[in-house]
Amino acid sequence: MADTKDVTVPRQWEPVIVPPQGIKLGMFGKGGSTKTTSLAHMLGHWAADGIPSGAIDADEPGEDEDGSLYTWSRAASFGAPVRKAPANHEDLDVELGLYLPAGGILGLDTPAWERKPETIHMRALSMVDVAVLCLQPTGMELNRAGSMLSAIQQIEAVGGRTPKLVILLARTKAQANAATQTRDTLTEAGYQVLQNEMPDQHAMDGYGQSFAKPIPIDFTSAMGKLSRELATVGAKAVSSR
Ligand SMILES: Nc1ncnc2c1ncn2[C@@H]1O[C@H](COP(=O)(O)OP(=O)(O)O)[C@@H](O)[C@H]1O
Ligand SMILES: [Mg+2]
Repeated sequence: MADTKDVTVPRQWEPVIVPPQGIKLGMFGKGGSTKTTSLAHMLGHWAADGIPSGAIDADEPGEDEDGSLYTWSRAASFGAPVRKAPANHEDLDVELGLYLPAGGILGLDTPAWERKPETIHMRALSMVDVAVLCLQPTGMELNRAGSMLSAIQQIEAVGGRTPKLVILLARTKAQANAATQTRDTLTEAGYQVLQNEMPDQHAMDGYGQSFAKPIPIDFTSAMGKLSRELATVGAKAVSSR
């Protein structure tokens, strides 16, 4: 007699288990370094993967950037709520605590990186568990990693809570070896460079044209894989705190 039990198709992967305390994950980098685009695609994938997610938008988009994560979420839902950061940055930690879902991930989108005491960046750095530095692999951009690392060291020096810093190579080109060289240089200097990169894509269906459109869910795509890599990195970071 034929087995009448439902045949369940196994998942291609185990879901990432996020510890109950959740992960606060901040996006940092210069204007145009794909902070907003990368976070949008990750939110879509986290939500699709069943990870409770949300984001706080503290970005003020500049000239060479599309609109904000908040605007995007209003045009096409990520399946995860996006809220605007409080006008008073003093309240940011309260906001992050309030909206961090248990066992989930709260993303924080920030404006172009500036290392100044009065900007939101130092505050944000001291509040997140994981700081993702989006970096285009060119020689000049490497300075930005140093700037962020020394900012983190400054927070550490005054006894503050410091995040795990990871680097996302952004807008990498398949034919160029700049990304490989940058990856090697950063790795040798002791930085953690994420395995998955945000590829440079300008086609109509590419990452560069995805603003305000629904997120195509594909866990074999670059951003699908990155969403899983960062959830894993974040889960490890908060477990060892
Ligand atoms: N992978 C990509 N390839 C090409 N262009 C991209 C890519 N990701 C984002 N862009 C484009 O680059 C600009 C800046 O991206 P954005 O995500 O707004 O960066 P940021 O938030 O760091 O300022 C936008 O016009 C966006 O559409
Ligand atoms: Mg942005």
